[in-house]
Amino acid sequence: ERHLLGLEHLSAEEIATILDLADQFQTLTEGGSKKLTVLNGTVVANLFFENSTRTKTSFNIAARRLGADTVDFSASGSSLSKGETFVDTALTIEAMGVDLVVCRHRTPGAPHLLARHLKAGVINAGDGTHEHPTQALLDMLTIRQKLGRIEGLTVALVGDIRHSRVARSNIHGLLKLGARVIVCGPATLVPRTITQLGVEVAYNLDEILPQVDCVNLLRVQFERQRGAFFPSIAEYAHLFGMNGDRIRKAKDGLLVLAPGPINRGVELTPEVADGPHSVILNQVSNGLLIRMACLYLLAKKAGK
Ligand code: CP
Repeated sequence: ERHLLGLEHLSAEEIATILDLADQFQTLTEGGSKKLTVLNGTVVANLFFENSTRTKTSFNIAARRLGADTVDFSASGSSLSKGETFVDTALTIEAMGVDLVVCRHRTPGAPHLLARHLKAGVINAGDGTHEHPTQALLDMLTIRQKLGRIEGLTVALVGDIRHSRVARSNIHGLLKLGARVIVCGPATLVPRTITQLGVEVAYNLDEILPQVDCVNLLRVQFERQRGAFFPSIAEYAHLFGMNGDRIRKAKDGLLVLAPGPINRGVELTPEVADGPHSVILNQVSNGLLIRMACLYLLAKKAGK
């Protein structure tokens, strides 16, 4: 496959290849700081039609660390405001000699549409509520580096499952690598159909905490809620927020992940976000390695 559109259709072997290559890039780039030349002559375009801090910046740095040139495109300030379509915009950028396109869009399936129209390889950097494959890959790399394995671990994905592309990609990836996955959140934010993906569902975080090795605290996506948010933010923080009391009731080595951006005081308290169980900034650093691995593998498929 010359595109990376999601983890749903990747095999366990393909996922393991990406994680292994990311580990190799950690060594080759001396922790991500040394510049390589393996993608000299490759052009990577970051097409972001939705806001981003982590994903956009780390794709940009990852491409440059490998020697590629980068083009950054943001919807705001572009000719989209003059009526140019999404596909025409991408075709226009591609015509400037682009080999790989990284696309984020609020509409599920938008990168898949580009994959049908472009000759360039397409990487999904988050499409609406559908998938965010590189986020799940960096989450899995962080778990594997910290706990030595994924197989046999119990991972809880906590919070706004309904709107979470990060949850969906993590579910596909973690199950393929042999983890047990529990999704946990208020009934309003956990779709009933989620069990069809092979996960367990829990509505009480305190009941499952003693069993779990990792919690991934999903951001409450206020911008995607329709109507009033229920439960209230205060109720949500009380029932599902990770705080010091919950850390003390969990397994000793509990790993606390969060894809970010975090709502401090909602999904987790500052005490937890900045505490010894948190690997949030490790996730960000690993994002660079995962994106290097994905860019490298797809550039080679594109004949670079
Ligand atoms: N986790 C994540 O995708 O963050 P950004 O929206 O800042 O890229």
